[in-house]
Amino acid sequence: MRVIIVDTATEVAQTGGDIFLQQLARKPNSVFGLATGSSPLALYQHLISAHLDQGVSFAGVTTFNLDEYLGLASEHPQSYRFFMQSKLFNHIDIPNSSTHVPDGASKKPTETCRLYEDKIASSGGIDIQLLGIGRNGHIGFNEPSSSLTSRTRVKTLTQATVNDNARFFGEDETQPSLSLTMGIGTIMDSAQIVLIATGESKADAIQATVEGAISASCPASILQMHRNAIVLVDRAAASKLANQEFYTFVEDQRRKLDAQ
Ligand code: F6R
Repeated sequence: MRVIIVDTATEVAQTGGDIFLQQLARKPNSVFGLATGSSPLALYQHLISAHLDQGVSFAGVTTFNLDEYLGLASEHPQSYRFFMQSKLFNHIDIPNSSTHVPDGASKKPTETCRLYEDKIASSGGIDIQLLGIGRNGHIGFNEPSSSLTSRTRVKTLTQATVNDNARFFGEDETQPSLSLTMGIGTIMDSAQIVLIATGESKADAIQATVEGAISASCPASILQMHRNAIVLVDRAAASKLANQEFYTFVEDQRRKLDAQ
């Protein structure tokens, strides 16, 4: 697991965005796994700028989002499909047919989840997966106690996650407590994983992810078992890591070797 600590949230977005742009340059028909929430917003802006200012094309890219609220149709303003359209897809040249978000309006959610797995497999698998992290260590909507080998399925959100996400919903809007989410096993099948986190509120979760025991109590801790995972954090999110200096030293060494 690489741990990259940068000074600010802006640098997290730039560094994370550049990792995706490098993947795209290597393989124009890459399969991206994407996330919603506050964490990726600035990173998506970085990708949009690369498209608008430098002519970077996403026309060959296929995307799979991690999760969706069960019960919200794609046109619902709080749905993750709506989020992805307004925060990324509508501003780059990716064909709509190449973007996938689990169908929150599905009347057969179990079947929808199975087909989502099939679709990921038939696209050749995810080359690079972006993750945020919940304060309780969740990835996607895999809450603590989720099986570390789970596949895409229906999951119940914890009250803590419902509370954390209440800020996106109006007072008169019903907030779903069920979701469709890629499983932890699905996420772990990605060739590369980039988890981003900013701010002090994520510091405990990042500490448990990087330095804690691998446990379903902190689903993100399974990334310790991945061959190509990066945890990219700002100083505030890194503040509870015991070995911050070592991680920074390792990255310095890496840069020196790359420059040779
Ligand atoms: C969203 C997702 C969630 C979020 C996590 C952090 O697609 O999968 O796991 O990444 O809840 O959310 P923010 O970034 O809003 O703090």
